[in-house]
Amino acid sequence: MSDTLFDMNASDALEKARSRYKKLIKEILHHDAQYHGEDNPEISDADYDALRKELEKIEESFPALISKDSPSTKVGSVPSKGFKKIKHAVAMLSLGNVFSEEELDDFLVRVRKFLGLSDDDLVEITAEPKIDGLSCSLRYEKGVLIQAATRGDGYEGEDILANVKTIVDIPHQLPKGVPDVLEVRGEVYMRRGDFIKLNEKQEENAKAPFANPRNAAAGSLRQLDASITAERPLYFFGYALGDVSEIFSDTQWGIREKLKEWGFTEANPSALCQNAKDIMAYYGSISEVRPDLNFEIDGVVYKVNRLDYQERLGFVSRAPRWAIAHKFPAEEAVTILNGIDIQVGRTGVLTPVARLEPITVGGVVVSNATLHNADEIERLDVRIGDHITIKRAGDVIPKVLGVVENKRQADAKPYEFPQVCPVCNSKAIREEGEVAYRCTGGLICEAQAVERLKHFVSRLAFDIDGLGAKIIEQFWQDGLIKTPADIFTLQSRDKDSLTPIRAREGWGDQSARNLFESIEQKRMIEFNRFIYALGIRQIGEATAKKLAATYGDLKTLRAAMKAADDHEGEAYQDLINIEDIGPSVADDLVGFFTEDHNLELLDQLDEVLGIQAYEAPSVGDSPVAGKTVVFTGTLTQMTRSEAKAKAEMLGGKVAGSVSKKTDYVVAGEDAGSKLKKATELGVSVLSEQEWLDLIGS
Ligand code: IVH
Repeated sequence: MSDTLFDMNASDALEKARSRYKKLIKEILHHDAQYHGEDNPEISDADYDALRKELEKIEESFPALISKDSPSTKVGSVPSKGFKKIKHAVAMLSLGNVFSEEELDDFLVRVRKFLGLSDDDLVEITAEPKIDGLSCSLRYEKGVLIQAATRGDGYEGEDILANVKTIVDIPHQLPKGVPDVLEVRGEVYMRRGDFIKLNEKQEENAKAPFANPRNAAAGSLRQLDASITAERPLYFFGYALGDVSEIFSDTQWGIREKLKEWGFTEANPSALCQNAKDIMAYYGSISEVRPDLNFEIDGVVYKVNRLDYQERLGFVSRAPRWAIAHKFPAEEAVTILNGIDIQVGRTGVLTPVARLEPITVGGVVVSNATLHNADEIERLDVRIGDHITIKRAGDVIPKVLGVVENKRQADAKPYEFPQVCPVCNSKAIREEGEVAYRCTGGLICEAQAVERLKHFVSRLAFDIDGLGAKIIEQFWQDGLIKTPADIFTLQSRDKDSLTPIRAREGWGDQSARNLFESIEQKRMIEFNRFIYALGIRQIGEATAKKLAATYGDLKTLRAAMKAADDHEGEAYQDLINIEDIGPSVADDLVGFFTEDHNLELLDQLDEVLGIQAYEAPSVGDSPVAGKTVVFTGTLTQMTRSEAKAKAEMLGGKVAGSVSKKTDYVVAGEDAGSKLKKATELGVSVLSEQEWLDLIGS
């Protein structure tokens, strides 16, 4: 080309450069806004990078043109790393659900049982709306709002302070007299009317509408540019506390009142209930007024009113024992079954998925529903082409309820469940006692391998920003990532590649750099997350944590699992002694750790990762941190469940039977064989009172 900027006479060139430069600035700023502000890039990263390079080249050749508006002079103009992460001082967990009066009764019985209360003891319960928005934690220090975070995975969220400051009913400064540290938790939401207006505006601007107020609130809050959040009408209801330096109420109801006094809005209608009858009356009345509320709710939340009870009840896994959500009944609809696809999961389970004629249920378009397994298809006798009833409850995957019988086509044939894996063609078998068919392809089954990788990077596992299910699939297809360890060699292999990631369609320098950086951030990983990431059958987040707490590091775990292959040996006893690990889970674990290809995978991962040895939750100088405790006999001052929960909270490990490794046996009244064994083995035996003295309660 002869007509470039660089082979003309000097003044022509300068003029042409000036005009191109101005255009480029405008264009780049526009794309910055689309990318960071709207989450809606119009051009590929590669094209964007080309514009930036052109701009830089002009600035290099014609420094006199450099304008203060240039994106190159703005330090923060490429904030593509997204939001800063914030560790929650107190975890932000979720709530268990009930869907019926019976389940509610079960909850109330559980609470009483845990606390050792009789039916006559009063347990007051607060009841309030369950707002369908986005949970958020606000931290005030000396009354000043200094931090705001999303829930994230419950332990770490994103810093959204700038955005939260634009929400009109969130105070930036609290009145005198509030605790020095005060974390207020609640829900950011959009009102119904504002949601409709926002969607009209989206349509006018030829932008996709939001599916519901919740999505609109989330989309508005998670804007890197807070000025966009400021334009969206968001509100906040406070409903719980996080970290607080000082206790200022004995009850949940008292917290509500204080929050109101300090300038927060509380969701209403609410009620303080004395019993199940009051609770159901509240539930009935809120179901009636639900359509008239100006915010969306998907149920109600009940909380034990007394905070000392809440404290004693504590948490199980990811939800408090002292609160529960009562969800509104699922919504149902009739549609046509267009087909049944079989999905292959990471452990080879074949799950039938109903492909539906799309239909709106409760404001959301549904085109897939689960059919669970072969038995379920047979039980319902669903056939392709049938009219079927589907049900959608909250966020769970919709399910098929049944067939509308009189609409069946005469030639509809019963569905035959495949006997081979649809992906790798290996035989599918159903083991005795199992409901699911499983692909026997193991390592040769691509579907399983990809699903394992997806699990490996999922939120509770490695949680790598920018490496979600879609990218995993693409990289798998292109041979870039075939095993978990490949993720951590991606960057070094990319350096020598003829077709580097930055040159892929939809990618560019910046996004490739971001990906490598977020992978780097996860090279150090906590041991419990690592175990969970391996995707071993039956090993969920909670069991992974227990394994990490028991064995501490990978080397010890590997050796112990190898030794546990001998069912008569001590290592096996130790393993099934861990709470929630029975023979079936133990088999899956030992099975995993005795397969050569898994050991190879562990070696590879050990080489590329820094796996951090498990650290017991910080519990000050708890005398039982890391100690193994067995409770036996009848306790009189607390229930067995409460005692166990407390020991675990203090960093102890609770075991079901006594061995040489037991540190304490706490013997209540009428203790029998376990006490005897403890005495034989010389394990310390404590009375209930001695135990309480030891833990200082
Ligand atoms: S209490 C430790 N109260 O529902 C429990 N949660 O499905 C603290 N939510 O994560 C939560 N309205 O985001 C509570 N009145 C309310 C709520 C509420 C909505 C959300 C919250 C929670 C989720 C669980």
